[in-house]
Amino acid sequence: MPAIADRNSSPFKEMVATRSGDIARFNGCCTPQKRSLRSNAAAAKESPVSTPMKLKSPRRRLNSNPNSPANGIKGDFNEKPMKKNWNPKDFEQMRAVKEALHVSTAPSTVVCRQYEQKRVLEFCKVCVAQEKAGSLYVCGCPGTGKSLSMEKVKQQVIEWATMEGLQSPEVLAMNCTSLANTSDIFSKILGKHQPKKKLTGSTSPSQHLQNLYSSKQSLSGSKMMLIIADELDYLITKDRAVLHDLFMLTTFPFSKCILLGIANSIDLADRFLPRLQSLNCKPMVVTFRAYSKDQILSILQERLSVLPYIVFQQQALELCARKVAAASGDMRKALCVCRSAAEIHEAELRECASNLSLTSVEGEFISQQTAPALEIFQSQENNTVRIDHMALALSKAFRSPIVDTIQSLPQHQQIILCSAVKFFRGGKKDTTVGELNKSYIDICKSSLIPPVGILEFLSILRVLNDQGLFKLGQSRDDKSKRVTLKVDEADISFALQGVRFFRNCLQ
Ligand SMILES: Nc1ncnc2c1ncn2[C@@H]1O[C@H](COP(=O)(O)OP(=O)(O)OP(=O)(O)O)[C@@H](O)[C@H]1O
Ligand SMILES: [Mg+2]
Repeated sequence: MPAIADRNSSPFKEMVATRSGDIARFNGCCTPQKRSLRSNAAAAKESPVSTPMKLKSPRRRLNSNPNSPANGIKGDFNEKPMKKNWNPKDFEQMRAVKEALHVSTAPSTVVCRQYEQKRVLEFCKVCVAQEKAGSLYVCGCPGTGKSLSMEKVKQQVIEWATMEGLQSPEVLAMNCTSLANTSDIFSKILGKHQPKKKLTGSTSPSQHLQNLYSSKQSLSGSKMMLIIADELDYLITKDRAVLHDLFMLTTFPFSKCILLGIANSIDLADRFLPRLQSLNCKPMVVTFRAYSKDQILSILQERLSVLPYIVFQQQALELCARKVAAASGDMRKALCVCRSAAEIHEAELRECASNLSLTSVEGEFISQQTAPALEIFQSQENNTVRIDHMALALSKAFRSPIVDTIQSLPQHQQIILCSAVKFFRGGKKDTTVGELNKSYIDICKSSLIPPVGILEFLSILRVLNDQGLFKLGQSRDDKSKRVTLKVDEADISFALQGVRFFRNCLQ
């Protein structure tokens, strides 16, 4: 019987079972857990991965370096240069890869968010052109490109205003988590309008702004103010007073405020903002939906396109995109997982090289013992990051008890799960034991694996039912019992992805 999986060689062998509960709970790198109200937000925001010494775009950095591999590529300007394979042992190349994938590296183009950016830009253009105050609320899950897109919009508004010969707005961009007090946002806005004036008396900055925006003379002739308030959830207080006052600033007759609030909270859009409508405040809402598999893939490819070499196998990127999309659609996670896969690849090559040099020292073993290692080493010399590196990186990032369970099942149980995934892909929700058995036998036959008999098949289904992976219905006739899959298809695909047999099966 052909071997399906060698557990020891499985890329999942390092997975650690957790009792955390969530199926695809993220662990380690990427998007920090957001607090709902005010808490240790600034600390939570820190990226746990090291920050490269950047701030130049990778494309510019590569092109500006005379020794950079990018400059070594010659060819017809109209044709895309053929990309060569990269060498993970080359320090500079590895650095460029990590930089291209680093969360803090601003990509030159923000793909997949053109529609959302256009809506916000159009809103700003109208406000600037008509010198009209207004508010817009951007909401969406973590890592969906809100901050990145708003940064681009900010630049576009200024470029557009300059091009149109209009007065560019004053820009006040802030992360609300950096405010010591929620109401400090008003002092910041006031400070921007009247940088030299010190506030005296008992009038609060908020009231002071209301007075300014109520009088025709106070700010006449001065610029509109584009306020980009990121992490607006931080300003949520019990009575929502700060948020209320902030949005209401845009309703005063001589208000200069163009407010762009950015946050995760859908609740604000659903409950809080509609309540302002009766007060003549109607913020526009732009929602950033979680990225789909295809979007994550395009973003990764776009970010990697600045590199003059091929770093990842296409299937490896697809696996990452599929898993991250199924779990959360958080681009930060996708980037961290890719970085981690590249590091795993690098570490593997380093280990291979050090094994080689060790063996060389042991003289007489050289010819026999180094031959296979040398082969691997050489074949990987220019190799891309493979699907097994990605699977390992994903398994480190998403630790799930369900995935652990699936990976530790005996082979035939895994094949049955695999046949169920194939079977239910057509959109069916359940089937009969008889039908599932046929699908299972087909898979076994196509791989020359002798299937188990129907009685054993049934008892396996009962075990899987007890483990909560299947739901087995009641019926006198065993073959007519209904079977429903109780785990996410993505978790099964992910758990079995590291084994070629299943990968081929599920493709
Ligand atoms: N369309 C995209 N193209 C390229 N990179 C992207 C894109 N969307 C997100 N990213 C990258 O993903 C990371 C997270 O994006 P961003 O900070 O904009 O998320 P966010 O929606 O503001 O998340 P949060 O709600 O946690 O603040 C960043 O590193 C960003 O560069
Ligand atoms: Mg953000």
